[in-house]
Amino acid sequence: MEQKKNMLSLIQPTNTPHLGNYLGAMQNWVKMQNDYNCFFGIADLHSITVRQDPIKLRAQIKESYTLLIAAGLDPEKSTLFVQGHNPNHAELSWILSCYTQFGELSRMTQFKDKSQKHPDNINAGLFTYPVLMAADILLYQADLVPVGIDQMQHLELTRNIVQRFNGIYGDVFKMPEAYITKATAKVNSLQEPTKKMSKSDENPNASVWILDDKDTIIRKFKRAVTDSEAEVCAREGKDGIINLMSIYSAVTDKSFDEIEAEFKGKGYGDFKLAVGEAVAEKLAPLQNEYKRISADKSYIEDCMKKGAEKAFKASRKTLSKVQKKLGFITI
Ligand code: TYM
Repeated sequence: MEQKKNMLSLIQPTNTPHLGNYLGAMQNWVKMQNDYNCFFGIADLHSITVRQDPIKLRAQIKESYTLLIAAGLDPEKSTLFVQGHNPNHAELSWILSCYTQFGELSRMTQFKDKSQKHPDNINAGLFTYPVLMAADILLYQADLVPVGIDQMQHLELTRNIVQRFNGIYGDVFKMPEAYITKATAKVNSLQEPTKKMSKSDENPNASVWILDDKDTIIRKFKRAVTDSEAEVCAREGKDGIINLMSIYSAVTDKSFDEIEAEFKGKGYGDFKLAVGEAVAEKLAPLQNEYKRISADKSYIEDCMKKGAEKAFKASRKTLSKVQKKLGFITI
């Protein structure tokens, strides 16, 4: 039998995941867990590039981890882990940082954006963030990395690092590829529909959190920014409506043509309500499952421990190989 390919992706625990994280990433992870040898995790190390409140962070790591399971990832099938529980990430990250150029990191748009947003804390971690991401991916010899479009530049950098490193030392790392689902690669803010939905958006109506209750979800969709027309269709310039159509399509599996036909002659009010209801319905099973499993603290802790062991074991092989290639003495 052909060996399954490896797949890896992580999510930062900087807030509750939003609908963009769910549709752009998590939902795809669940769909693919049977076909790949999967590693999914919580990027706690990445999250401290921006100041975090320790009490909140601890709660959010647990929440995000529990949500992976609630969303349908099976800890028996996939390796579900917290990045910081596996010290191999930080170690490979240091090594790879010696194979990444200052100029390459200076070009990263996320670094530029975050530096602008936090001018009083442009720390070295923010700058080397993509190197840690490369370490996450390469440690597990990932073939595929399912992400939203915003991570594409980081993935390209990872590929450059692989080329450079393998060029010197032979075939040490597999060349990873991004796996992007076009329709949900960039879910946009409900308030500024040309900008991506983001965990750090301060406008409370911009993002739908996947643990929002039904009324909140519907209220946020009712307030979504659209345009001054009254036609539900995907014409240029109708960014707000296109964003809502993409979300509706992702949660109902209806095509854009079907959506246009469904809302022909109806106003935006009806459409927004339908999107809100469909999203709430889609998230309900996940939310119920979250309630059920988060009550069982020892189960979550147990899963974390087992996930950490599996992650350590799987990644140690790569790190040892790297150390040998570099000329380090391993004992
Ligand atoms: P993070 O935590 O910002 O986002 C987690 C995943 O959600 C996707 N995403 C979106 N997709 C569609 N629309 C949006 N508005 C949207 N916002 C976010 C992201 O593309 C991502 O797939 N650096 C990563 C975490 C990370 C990682 C990794 C990912 C750390 N190491 C290794 C892949 C491989 C991040 O901050 O994702």
